[in-house]
Amino acid sequence: MQFSHIQPTRTLRAARVEVTRSCNTKEAHVLSVDETIQLIQIGQATQKTCSSKLSEAPWVWDAEQPAYGPGASMADHLPAESPHQGILPVEYQKASAAELDLRIRAAKHALGERLVILGHFYQRDEVVKYADFVGDSFQLAQAAKTRPNAEAIVFCGVHFMAETADMLSRADQSVILPNLAAGCSMADMADLDSVTDCWEQLHEILGESPDAAGRQPVIPVTYMNSSAALKGFCGEHGGIVCTSSNAAAVLRWAFERGQRVLFFPDQHLGRNTGKAMGISLDQMPLWNPSKPLTAAAIQDAKVILWHGFCSVHKRFSVEQVERARREHPGVRVIVHPESPMEVVDTADGAGSTDFIVKAIEAAQPGTTFAVGTEINLVQRLANQHPEHTIFCLDPVICPCSTMYRIHPGYLAWVLESLERGEVLNRITVPESVAIPARIALERMLSVRPDAPK
Ligand code: 13P
Ligand code: SF4
Repeated sequence: MQFSHIQPTRTLRAARVEVTRSCNTKEAHVLSVDETIQLIQIGQATQKTCSSKLSEAPWVWDAEQPAYGPGASMADHLPAESPHQGILPVEYQKASAAELDLRIRAAKHALGERLVILGHFYQRDEVVKYADFVGDSFQLAQAAKTRPNAEAIVFCGVHFMAETADMLSRADQSVILPNLAAGCSMADMADLDSVTDCWEQLHEILGESPDAAGRQPVIPVTYMNSSAALKGFCGEHGGIVCTSSNAAAVLRWAFERGQRVLFFPDQHLGRNTGKAMGISLDQMPLWNPSKPLTAAAIQDAKVILWHGFCSVHKRFSVEQVERARREHPGVRVIVHPESPMEVVDTADGAGSTDFIVKAIEAAQPGTTFAVGTEINLVQRLANQHPEHTIFCLDPVICPCSTMYRIHPGYLAWVLESLERGEVLNRITVPESVAIPARIALERMLSVRPDAPK
């Protein structure tokens, strides 16, 4: 695999000068992740990066052996049925950042109200700047509905988010994922076949009958970060979807209807939420088909946790929290609940991406934050809030490798194709899946989330 030697752009050189000049002032400009990685590559920044290879030319990976690509999820196994991206036309690969910027702006202008661009908090700044809405996965799914005149919803995020937007938008609106390789390694850790196997095994032990209070033996709960097929499974089996902002309220909903919960795919969100609700760890066993649980463990369980995890958030550690506290006395440590339990227990606060954004917005000027979530969001927050000191808990720059597959080159490609009337990379969930999945999503929408603490 060949990567051309990356030269700092003129803008980057200028930014470096600006940073050097202003580094002792509160106006210091925090570079985007792309820019920081370029500086690391040319030896002008002292940080480390786990891999810089997706920052400049993600299309190189489209032609390779299917994989998530270098970054926080590179060690995860990519299922064979995951969508793959074809080769990006060379004109987009070769275009400079300035040319892509002109072309994206021109296409966006020409498409006008016919287009809405949604950008997840974890996208690169170089992509987020074109978004009409920026938010978490749930907010973006709702944002899609606020533009009924838009024929095309271009989703700069990952595959499960585009699927959800497709199910919640009108049938004649097309949802487009600029790079089909932008999956989510955690979502891919649970598939319909293995969850169905687990479900059947649980029912062999627990039976099918409700208890005296009418509660089912087990209720399936899927995190938003899952395929539409699993949302459909939950809709069909009396279950529900949750996000990181409403997981506790959703678990309470499930316990009103069931004696226990099967929670997938993220063990950490499930464990952290269950623990905060007072459920003991021995009542939250891990379901891993290669290490079967005893019948007694299943009978006694309150939350059966699927063995999935997020490779980005699992990097955060108690040692990093302790180091942040040592080096920045008074620091506030806030982390996403996809982080391991020990990290959440040690932090000052844990919550969804939206919780993190709001906690920083609400803080007294001069607060120092160590944030345990994806680096693109952390660096953007640092830039947007010069009144605070904000840094990532993990000193290594390691973006979510699937979010990072969306590069301005792919955005220019899908927008210019749309302008010509060609819809590329459309994400369509078949109605047979979308109908039960919408039931599980609507159950979630009917649950009132807890007020943030
Ligand atoms: P949100 O649901 O907060 O957008 O998070 C999505 C995600 O992928 C977290 O890792
Ligand atoms: Fe998936 Fe983790 Fe990336 Fe979120 S940060 S999209 S959970 S791999």
